[in-house]
Amino acid sequence: SKGTYDSYMSKEIDEQPAVLRRIAKEYYRDQQPVISPDLIAEMKQADRIYIVAAGTSYHAGLVGQELFEELANVPAEVKLASEFGHHLGKLSQRPFFIFLTQSGETADSRQVLVQTKALKYPSLTVTNVANSTLARESDYALLLHAGPEIAVASTKAYTAQIAVQAILAQALGQALNYQPKHPIDVLNQLGLAANAIQTVIDQKDKLEKLTEDYFDKHDRAFFIGRGNGYMVALEAALKLKEVSYIHAEGFAAGELKHGTIALIENQTPVVAFILEEATAAHTRGNVKEVVSRGAHTLTIAKKSLAQSDDTIVLDDLNELLMPLVAIIPGQLFAYFAAKHRGNDVDQPRNLAKSVTVE
Ligand code: M6R
Repeated sequence: SKGTYDSYMSKEIDEQPAVLRRIAKEYYRDQQPVISPDLIAEMKQADRIYIVAAGTSYHAGLVGQELFEELANVPAEVKLASEFGHHLGKLSQRPFFIFLTQSGETADSRQVLVQTKALKYPSLTVTNVANSTLARESDYALLLHAGPEIAVASTKAYTAQIAVQAILAQALGQALNYQPKHPIDVLNQLGLAANAIQTVIDQKDKLEKLTEDYFDKHDRAFFIGRGNGYMVALEAALKLKEVSYIHAEGFAAGELKHGTIALIENQTPVVAFILEEATAAHTRGNVKEVVSRGAHTLTIAKKSLAQSDDTIVLDDLNELLMPLVAIIPGQLFAYFAAKHRGNDVDQPRNLAKSVTVE
């Protein structure tokens, strides 16, 4: 039940610290990741990992792709299920397919699985629903342990998907004897992430006020970032769109000047994510560009890169895992904006929890 909450979405946002702690408990013994040896043996054979997903799960896959490359040194790419199924393209010699799907019922993802199975390629479904169609039909399944996600807008499944991919990437890297250039203590990071998320959730009053200032009187908004900041920008924009109906777009910060900056007018809301050292200065430059065109900017920065005028400062995690905490303000903006507009937060118009048509 919703308990004391006004919506499942707000309850599920708040559950995220507990979900990360549960995932850590489920997937670690004596500080070591525990993944089925058969699955790891199969993945060790792969020369490329294809992550297939839709919507929010696709955005979690963008983060996962980097984790597999960095922690296991296996080339990885994420594919939109609705596109990939019709354009499989030239696959690698020994592909391994990961289907990332909260519900395990998404028709677009399933039709890719049907094809990859026919081609006899190995597959794993990472899902929140143990007995779902994709979990049953793929060779292996890993659970998100997020607990039932009722709100149509996916929140805790996104953070859970990133966490489980990080654990799997770590386990694969260890099995391959790969020494990452920048190793990540994933278990420790999940604990830090749970605390960092809680710190954002504890600032709800501030986030509600920011929603009033930035989104309540506007019907469009931009989210920008680079690297992981771009991945989070895409997901934050999707959240805002689907529950508040504000036209939001996530953009690679450096790409704005190639066209989209024409849309920036006086008071246009622009949210910038500054999450990586390597690109922070560039993204700040892009913020200046939109400020000079009148944008109403809000910056979300990780502590070690923060400046005194940043709007929201996030506790530091390993850069690859920053999306775990950086998405939380985006989820809360979407929730408050929808609520202030009087929308049905949990059941947005035109949407269903699982999309079972192609
Ligand atoms: O159940 P799945 O993860 O396969 O669902 C994929 C998308 O339909 C889903 O993430 C959708 O984008 C959500 N409504 C986003 O909040």
